[in-house]
Amino acid sequence: MLVPQDVAARARFLREEIERHNYLYYVLDEPEIPDAEYDKMFRELGRLEAEYPLLATPDSPTRRVGAAPLAEFSHLTHRVPMLSLSNAFEDEEVAAFDRRVREGLGVEVVEYAVDPKFDGLAISLIYENGILVQGATRGDGDTGEEVTTNLRTIKAIPLRLHTANPPQLLEVRGEVLILKADFEKLNRQQREKGEKEFANPRNAAAGSLRQLDPRITATRPLTFFAYGLGSVEGVNLPRKLNAVMDYLEALRVPVCRERRVVQGVEGLLDYYRMIGARREGLPYDIDGVVYKVNDLDSQERLGYVSRAPRFAVAHKFPAQEAMTELLGIDVQVGRTGALTPVARLKPVFVGGATVSNATLHNEDEIRRKDVRIGDTVIVRRAGDVIPEVVGVVPGMRHSGAQEYSLLEQYPVCPVCGSHVIRLPDEAAARCSGGLFCPAQRKQAILHFASRRAMDIEGMGDKLVDQLVDKELIHTPADLYKLGMNTLANLDRMAEKSAINTLAAIEASKNTTLARFIFALGIRNVGEATAKDLARHFGGMAALMAADEGALQQVP
Ligand code: IVH
Repeated sequence: MLVPQDVAARARFLREEIERHNYLYYVLDEPEIPDAEYDKMFRELGRLEAEYPLLATPDSPTRRVGAAPLAEFSHLTHRVPMLSLSNAFEDEEVAAFDRRVREGLGVEVVEYAVDPKFDGLAISLIYENGILVQGATRGDGDTGEEVTTNLRTIKAIPLRLHTANPPQLLEVRGEVLILKADFEKLNRQQREKGEKEFANPRNAAAGSLRQLDPRITATRPLTFFAYGLGSVEGVNLPRKLNAVMDYLEALRVPVCRERRVVQGVEGLLDYYRMIGARREGLPYDIDGVVYKVNDLDSQERLGYVSRAPRFAVAHKFPAQEAMTELLGIDVQVGRTGALTPVARLKPVFVGGATVSNATLHNEDEIRRKDVRIGDTVIVRRAGDVIPEVVGVVPGMRHSGAQEYSLLEQYPVCPVCGSHVIRLPDEAAARCSGGLFCPAQRKQAILHFASRRAMDIEGMGDKLVDQLVDKELIHTPADLYKLGMNTLANLDRMAEKSAINTLAAIEASKNTTLARFIFALGIRNVGEATAKDLARHFGGMAALMAADEGALQQVP
């Protein structure tokens, strides 16, 4: 059926508007309109296409929802092979890479385009005259799997390049991944549905992209970042990689914000440290950074060794996960009495440090991960986060591995002997001893003195251990009764530090009401609630006089 001109124009308008909003929402993270408005346009376009099937072009956003399942993926040969990168781990290896490049080009200083090394999976996107016509996985580098329909469901990937003047052929290469926040949400949903959780964002992304049923892929929060080009025809591109990436950005192909241009080996190592420091805060997982010679003619001159370019290298971060043996399980009693099971591990180097203890969180987590003593476990140490046991390697379990029950091991608190109880709606088993329990007492005092609470400098765990073990103090209030004689007689306490500690205790009297309330360590009263309480009541007397009704008035 022929399409009336005004209908065709309306459909074109809707396609462009919807794709512009996809870009605003999925790439720039700056939505302009409410979801309902977007849905309305989407439904209108769907209706027009149902009435006039000729309107359903391959670049229509309605194509993103997924088509009928495939029996299998077909294979295709990449026009230009998708190579791998050689790795560097140490600064010296980076210096050697830069030296080889300088010598190869006969120059003093080399300019590099640098970006994060995304921990996802490599894909190729073919645009013919600006329209996405084919997408494939990397596969073995020579041949990959054709996953066009699945890639079309990824809203960050443009179905049409944003230009009036598209090249005949443009092959965009980059990485499909799942953002960390979306991964947490996805796993929560899997849990609620009673389905298997994914081990990490990379596995989730790979599993989602390699679905034979594109409708499943469409429900997964995949996204995409470009890092380069494959084959190109019918356009004269700039001869610097960073300018090519700017060109892609103008075409509304997602490129990452963290890419930079730097000079020489110092520039490379500064970038590595900068990204390393920001790694935890980045929205996606990375496993290093990639350095590429910025000048494309120089890239060609340098060429390749076997399967890897001489003009690029991946500088990897130390692995954040490692395997080791679980020797036993200890417990720690926290400030609120919670018993935290702590894995005693055969020491292992991970995330840049040797780890011999890692948290197992609580009894349910031990059960959920089916962790047994003697198992080979995976330990994760990421940035400043406390190392944790993320799972076991089931294939390496031997017959002697022992199941563990925290409540059976500890019917009473290992520190004070009070009963251990687990309330039905709580994950933690707790010592019921309260401040009678020296462990809870120590933690309560440490919390009271901590930087964000009363900020008593010098009141660290060694000192608090002694004060509590020698029964010199029982509650935080007792800190204010300490004198010079008591302190100066403690181990490792010189007169000078005793004077300083007393001065810090004295100075802490001059604090804010909010800090003081927070310092008391009341369950569920964190810093924000403490501030609310302080603002509302204005003083201790009013707060102490408040009954339940008065507390409920706090905004
Ligand atoms: S550039 C000539 N840049 O790393 C090779 N690759 O070992 C050009 N990767 O599977 C590759 N982030 O998918 C490049 N910012 C980045 C990357 C990156 C991740 C992956 C790529 C490939 C592997 C190469």
